[in-house]
Amino acid sequence: MAIEKSRRDFLGIAFGSMATVGGILALGAMKDTWDPIPSVMAQGLTTIDLSSIKPGEFRTIAWRGKPIFILRKDKTKFKQCDNRDTKIGEKDFLVVIGLCTHLGCIPAWEPDKNIFYCACHGGEFDSCGINIYGPPPRPLDIPPYKITGTKLVLGELGPKCKALIAKNPTNEG
Ligand code: FES
Repeated sequence: MAIEKSRRDFLGIAFGSMATVGGILALGAMKDTWDPIPSVMAQGLTTIDLSSIKPGEFRTIAWRGKPIFILRKDKTKFKQCDNRDTKIGEKDFLVVIGLCTHLGCIPAWEPDKNIFYCACHGGEFDSCGINIYGPPPRPLDIPPYKITGTKLVLGELGPKCKALIAKNPTNEG
């Protein structure tokens, strides 16, 4: 009788321990899922290293649920806009929020025409993000960002970006 009781106690402790370890492992896995990706930092800041982007290359990244368009200007092909481009040394970049200023669709970059084309109602923006055709009422918005070395930090307003936004009074980024 005493042997059977101690066997039951042993099995109870063993199963209880296994359940506890399993629970801890499951919580660890869930935490990994909830944690932001490494490039997403505290306070909604996102950092992108621009040094690997080649002339003429276009990228879209996500920031606070919005698409951000980054276009490295190829000086032989693209219009330069001192009031909209940001410079890092000799390199020029366009950094804008990729939402059409008409009704918020996401325009597509068309490299053969060097325009952003919004398929919703045919709006077009040039390589400076300026509305050139159709219903969009104003240029693509410039998001708040800061340049640190070759890095773009989205979510923090630096002096270069502040100066650009001041030259774009319709900006709502
Ligand atoms: S939403 Fe882009 S043209 Fe209407």
